[in-house]
Amino acid sequence: MTNIAVFASGTGSNFLAILDAIENKELDLHCALLVSDKPQSLVVERAKQRGVKTLAITPKSFPSKTAYEATILEHLKKHHVSFLALAGYMRLIGPTLLQAYPRRIVNIHPSLLPSFKGLDAVGQAMSAGVKVTGVTIHYVDEGMDTGEIIAQESLDISNLTTREHIETAIHTIEHQLYPKTLASILKEDL
Ligand code: GRF
Repeated sequence: MTNIAVFASGTGSNFLAILDAIENKELDLHCALLVSDKPQSLVVERAKQRGVKTLAITPKSFPSKTAYEATILEHLKKHHVSFLALAGYMRLIGPTLLQAYPRRIVNIHPSLLPSFKGLDAVGQAMSAGVKVTGVTIHYVDEGMDTGEIIAQESLDISNLTTREHIETAIHTIEHQLYPKTLASILKEDL
């Protein structure tokens, strides 16, 4: 059985979708750890409620990013984690974790990359006035949302007038696409 860790900083709806897919046997893996850089975030609370071990440490309490990631890496090794899924983790992954997990780190982003990288992709899409946006799952490299694209799903937003409507529709896509894509990557690669 593959042990994964989910990295998240926010509310954790994608994290819950992954846990649900595991419980429903759509995803044959074990979520060994939830890693968060925000100890107060809702996702940490949700992980505890669902019985998932958590590592919630803020980078501010470490002398460097390298030291921060080295501590995360120790815990990942202790839990025999072989794959990392970022789900709303609001930090760039550094060389320490990238070298330890080559082509074994993926991220979900709420736009059709390479459009609207970085923060507030939905807001960027609205300001640009595009009629179609979507969701991308990609491998993580040293850049911001620049790694090789694995899967995408588009969303017609021409009739969605508010940010709330767009975000709800994006989340609905994400909660299906992420577990489905993880299942196919893990079947092929591991
Ligand atoms: C998602 O929209 C994801 O694409 C982005 O951050 C958001 C996280 O949402 N990277 P949640 O915390 O999973 O609800």
